[in-house]
Amino acid sequence: MNRGLFITFEGPDGSGKSTQIKKLKIKLESRGFETVLTREPGGTAISENIREIILDVKNSEMDSLTEALLYAAARSQHVNQVILPALKASKTVICDRFMDSSIAYQGYGRKLGDQVRIINEYAVRGISPDITFLLLLEPSIGKGRIKREYDRLELEQNKFHEDVYQGYMELAKCNPKRIIIIDATKSIIEIEKEIELHLEKLLLKKREIYDL
Ligand code: TMP
Repeated sequence: MNRGLFITFEGPDGSGKSTQIKKLKIKLESRGFETVLTREPGGTAISENIREIILDVKNSEMDSLTEALLYAAARSQHVNQVILPALKASKTVICDRFMDSSIAYQGYGRKLGDQVRIINEYAVRGISPDITFLLLLEPSIGKGRIKREYDRLELEQNKFHEDVYQGYMELAKCNPKRIIIIDATKSIIEIEKEIELHLEKLLLKKREIYDL
């Protein structure tokens, strides 16, 4: 499919994704790539509304399957309204979290297992990232880096976050070509360089799409 590049960032809370995403957008735009920066849950008005419901600390009674379905619903709207149209228009899409987050958080963290993949196959409409940067760090370190009030997911006990971490490790093991593990304890500059290097390699492979 002759479409734009789809790049996702994953990792536990506090892993420094946002900083790297902003840097990457600037870098790609300076090289002439029209770039759409978006996030999950969110990226459209409807999906941002769903985000508020999911992360609201008042919704402590939310059932795990309801949570997984809400993430998938937000994703469905986002894919249909933002991601797919951008990719079809040959734009590069950088997305802060995507389906891997659901597998890690709801599949492993909430122990919903394969149900999460099945639900999300409807939501993603056949698209998958070309490359995923997984900024990994111990959940306890990540939590310590969050300087605002915790949302409903961040308030979960340590065991939940450790299971999410294991989920990410499993995902990386099963998708070694797509998922690039990055040690998020490294400096911002070191991480930036590592991301650039991997992206260069991918762009070389995709040179039939992009006029480099
Ligand atoms: P954010 O703080 O990185 O924007 O993400 C919001 C929270 O939602 C974060 O704790 C990870 C979680 N999350 C899931 O549990 N499942 C998902 O599918 C996504 C996209 C995020």
